[in-house]
Amino acid sequence: MTVPDKETLILAIETSCDETAAAVVADGRTIKSSVVASQVDLHERFGGVVPEIASRAHVEKILPVVQEAMEQAGVTPAQIDAVAVANQPGLTIALMVGVTAAKTLAWAWQKPLIAVNHIHAHFQSAMLQQQGDDIRLPAVALVVSGGHTSLYDAQSTLDLRLLGKTIDDAAGEAFDKVAAILNLPYPGGPSIEKAARSGNPKAIAFPRTLLDKDSLDFSFSGLKTAVLYHCQGQDMKGQNRTATMTEQEIADIAASFQAAVVDVLVEKTRRAVAKVRARTILIGGGVAANTALRTAMQNFADSGKLNLMIAPKRLCTDNAAMVASLAWYKYTAGQFAPLSLEPKATS
Ligand code: KG4
Ligand code: ZN
Repeated sequence: MTVPDKETLILAIETSCDETAAAVVADGRTIKSSVVASQVDLHERFGGVVPEIASRAHVEKILPVVQEAMEQAGVTPAQIDAVAVANQPGLTIALMVGVTAAKTLAWAWQKPLIAVNHIHAHFQSAMLQQQGDDIRLPAVALVVSGGHTSLYDAQSTLDLRLLGKTIDDAAGEAFDKVAAILNLPYPGGPSIEKAARSGNPKAIAFPRTLLDKDSLDFSFSGLKTAVLYHCQGQDMKGQNRTATMTEQEIADIAASFQAAVVDVLVEKTRRAVAKVRARTILIGGGVAANTALRTAMQNFADSGKLNLMIAPKRLCTDNAAMVASLAWYKYTAGQFAPLSLEPKATS
């Protein structure tokens, strides 16, 4: 009888935006704990994330969140094999809190430190809790979040090549801004999705900006402006009419906007799949929680006999389990970071 190798336990920390998160994951797959302290209530009245407030809240929450993750996982520091942190991209003063905490723990516990790219980690959400074979490569990986909308050619988990990205707003940002125009609560994605359920996605023909014929870049600011024009009149001189609109009108705008975003995301993914002859599509990021997007992507994948991997909804938005999962691949490859690690705003 062979004795199974001891599982590798990684403690990961995530503070790139407005969630303070820590998780313990075994062998990059099995979540032992995943604690997320959301700051949504703190940023709600500003309609977006305020970096200074986010940073202060991270400072307050980081140690209790790490402690809870360790307790829920039932592990001691001695059992942890490495400490990982998302050190880029994100709000520098928010990332700084997680990076400092991770460096301190790695130093105090004498464990290796692993630096993880937050965007790349989003794809790991789709791999978590999966049993069996690794993904069929090559894959196209799409991240759709509040800060990023990017397509990658995934040659392997650690080898992601950027194919295209947004030239203005990210998809999630467009959801948040359109929700603000429609006076729907923050964060906008879930509010738009909820309103859209009773709306007609064909009610208003909002533009689908596809840029050049072969372009894999995205642009959502024209769509956002089209919604604004629709609500305020073409000359933008009128009042924002949303306060006097019926619920049905709001629902129709939400559904039509959502349909336009989904169409663009599917079309760009289709182009990327054709370009790299992908067999798998990986999708991560907060907007991947959107049911209309999930359904459209599933239909597209089925039509091309492609393997679609989207994270379970609860793992689409920011969490530290995805960071621990990607860190495990780096651990296995011996890719460690020095204690001089710094946060980086860009990717
Ligand atoms: O990945 P995430 O938690 O943070 C970033 O890394 O940016 O994504 C947050 C974004 C927000 O813009 C939010 O409105 C959007 O994801 N989002 C959604 C949904 N749930 C969250 N967008 C559309 N539909 C949803 N159900
Ligand atoms: Zn994110």
